[in-house]
Amino acid sequence: MGEKIKVGVLGATGSVGQRFVQLLDGHPWFELGALFASERSAGKRYRDAAKWFLPYPMPEEAAEMVVRSTEDVGVDGTEDEELTILFSALPGSVAKEVERRCAQAGYCVASNVSVHRMEKDVPLVIPEVNADHLALINEQRSNRNWRGFIVTNPNCSTIVLALSLKPLMQFGITEVRVATMQAVSGAGYAGVPSMAILDNVIPYIEREEDKMESEPLKILGTLEGSRIRNASFTVCASCHRVPVMDGHTEAVWVKFEDEISEMEVKEAFENFNTDVDIETPFAPQKPIILREERDRPQPKLDRDAGRGMSVSVGRIRPGRMKNEIKYIALGHNTIRGAAGASILNAEVMVKRGYISRT
Ligand SMILES: NC(=O)c1ccc[n+]([C@@H]2O[C@H](COP(=O)([O-])OP(=O)(O)OC[C@H]3O[C@@H](n4cnc5c(N)ncnc54)[C@H](OP(=O)(O)O)[C@@H]3O)[C@@H](O)[C@H]2O)c1
Repeated sequence: MGEKIKVGVLGATGSVGQRFVQLLDGHPWFELGALFASERSAGKRYRDAAKWFLPYPMPEEAAEMVVRSTEDVGVDGTEDEELTILFSALPGSVAKEVERRCAQAGYCVASNVSVHRMEKDVPLVIPEVNADHLALINEQRSNRNWRGFIVTNPNCSTIVLALSLKPLMQFGITEVRVATMQAVSGAGYAGVPSMAILDNVIPYIEREEDKMESEPLKILGTLEGSRIRNASFTVCASCHRVPVMDGHTEAVWVKFEDEISEMEVKEAFENFNTDVDIETPFAPQKPIILREERDRPQPKLDRDAGRGMSVSVGRIRPGRMKNEIKYIALGHNTIRGAAGASILNAEVMVKRGYISRT
């Protein structure tokens, strides 16, 4: 690829925003052109505005950039001609208006935020699962008369679940139950006070169960013309915050139409492979890694698999209900579950011609 595509990050100082800045450093196709955050950070150098907490040095170029106000992006007359993609890690309360304004102004918005995910003409994409849903981009642009568009990636727990369910779809899933053990970084930089989470488990995460029960059905649904027909099974979720820094762990129970063996499920995970055209810089070699050890996967040991882009599965065993299998799945919530997922989506959009350099 010749000249790099200039990208910006909305919400660049937060938990997911910092991941974008770290992961985009040295990206072979994309170059960081602008960082946006709230009025609190606007005008400051990134090194002073962001409370950097990742276990890597802050990239030098980003550190010296002056943070811009999100209020200025996409506003008439202030278009930044150089930027093509805006990665969004904004709070839901501000994202709706900002992302729409930016899409209308011509940017490709690759969003982590939940506000647009379930809209009928907005793709909700995990490339290894449903890259074909990107076709909704054309529908969206013509419905809304936008020069740009919005593409979303799923909630950080949903992505782990939906990716692990994909190879099992062939066996006829009828019901899924899932209990999550979610890392604190999933709540944002200032999300959970340390006094509340240390030595504790919090059995409530606002709106998380709704997302986990609805998003997988759209992702695993079928594109029919310009609409998605949702997958027809039910998902029942119970979500919990645990004192882990990064990496969401999920206990999953899946019921099938017919009897199924542990071995069939293991083989399906082991043999799962993505389409060739998803080979991009951020695509993991193996989207799903089967862990054979009896006490895996674990966040500390497995969250960085595939540079944080692989989901690990293990403890595959029969459930107590008829035709049921249970297993544990785990993925890195701010990489596979957020910034890395958006970057992979953008790469696939470049590869499929939805984003081009003008
Ligand atoms: N954390 C995860 O694992 C995860 C995973 C998937 C999706 N998400 C989603 O990603 C989004 C960001 O999450 P996060 O965990 O990174 O949150 P966060 O740590 O709280 O960061 C929020 C970011 O948004 C900016 N911001 C706050 N209020 C703003 C306003 N009024 N106008 C413009 N910018 C504003 C903040 O800038 P200042 O520093 O200037 O305040 C900061 O850069 C959320 O929608 C979340 O649901 C998070």
